[in-house]
Amino acid sequence: MQPKRRILTGITTSGTPHLGNYVGAIRPAIAASRKDDAESFYFLADYHALIKTGDPARVQRSTLEIAASWLACGLDPDKVFFYRQSDIPEIPELTWLLTCVTAKGLLNRAHAYKAAVDANVSGDDDPDAGVTAGLYMYPVLMAADILVFGANEVPVGRDQIQHIEMARDIGQRFNHLYGGEYFTLPEAKIEENVATLPGTDGRKMSKSYDNTIPLWLPASDLKKAILGIVTDSRAPGEAKDPDTSNLFAIYQAFATPAETAAMREAFAAGISWGEAKQKLFERVDAELAPMRAKYEALVADPARIEALLHAGADKARERSRPFIETLRRAAGIRRLTEASAPAKADAVASVALPVFKRYREKDGKFYFKLESADGALLFQSRAFDAPQESGQVIAALVDAGGDVGAIETQLRPVAAQEGWAANMTAISDALAALRADMLAKAAAKGAG
Ligand code: TRP
Repeated sequence: MQPKRRILTGITTSGTPHLGNYVGAIRPAIAASRKDDAESFYFLADYHALIKTGDPARVQRSTLEIAASWLACGLDPDKVFFYRQSDIPEIPELTWLLTCVTAKGLLNRAHAYKAAVDANVSGDDDPDAGVTAGLYMYPVLMAADILVFGANEVPVGRDQIQHIEMARDIGQRFNHLYGGEYFTLPEAKIEENVATLPGTDGRKMSKSYDNTIPLWLPASDLKKAILGIVTDSRAPGEAKDPDTSNLFAIYQAFATPAETAAMREAFAAGISWGEAKQKLFERVDAELAPMRAKYEALVADPARIEALLHAGADKARERSRPFIETLRRAAGIRRLTEASAPAKADAVASVALPVFKRYREKDGKFYFKLESADGALLFQSRAFDAPQESGQVIAALVDAGGDVGAIETQLRPVAAQEGWAANMTAISDALAALRADMLAKAAAKGAG
């Protein structure tokens, strides 16, 4: 079976969600997550938030608000991977492994860092004034977010394309240096048909322009905010141009095609700005009101969200924990007892490997055992009724790489007798060797 495509995106927890976030990110992502042809990973990038703000209360509040927003808008945490970056220790760990293969020159070229330096230089300041190493390292942390779960697609705005290219670059360098296809190389996915929502002043809705309409205003405040949208001075009865109107653009983002067509006619017929704003308010409020009630209940119950995020992290770490183990070993952070793996894929074939042996006994049942490269018995399974059952355990073990916790979970229920755990070090070394061999062979195949 082909593995499903993995779609991953992160949301920095440094602000309050606004209508632009809803239309541009939350709504399309949730719609995509309902399809069954892909696995979705959505996470709260709270480590990234530290680069943008030094206000702890704001980071915490924003994390709560953004998590509650996604849930209120219909994200099903059982169907997707929904977690908080800081609950996945493999992410900062991978950040360091990646840091050590990242060219400093690559980071020098990052737009956000360069913009900060350019602003200093033109202001006659020291080039690095106020620039933290966190800002400089931002792309490496983001690469770790993406690479740790093997994302194929990353839906982002145009301003983030460079970061995805850097993640590819960094992943590729690691693959090349350690001679295996460890990382999937991600692609940026720009949603062409999701419009960027204009703000109240007509520029793109963004916190940095101070032109946002917060997503969860009470209805009366939402109405006030919409009344504050800047329009031209055309009087009631005068025809108005929908294609240059930010009010129309916002309406369109919420309305059906038929409603949009009707509004277009109303513009031509000279609807007053006041009336158009009233219609816009009603349309937006009709979509948000039911979710607003859910949002308020969620925000009032932080313990529930906390528990949900922990469950999400547990589920995500089933992937990241064994994977980081493989990566550490690839880089040489491994037990002294472990045979050193060949650095390059083409040297792999000649190395003796541990083996899984699967067989059937006279009792008609199925068994497997794991033997080390020199033939020593490391593990003996109990009887299985069907060969698929032992096959599944073996596949999960190879996936586990050297992760002792994951190996335990698989082996404990199927051990033939007590005492097997005394071999754990040798078992985990053997499994790590099998996995490294598998990855290296995949890499050699990819190259040839
Ligand atoms: N840098 C992204 C932004 O500002 C947020 C982010 C952090 C992200 N890690 C990510 C997005 C990983 C996609 C994938 O919008």
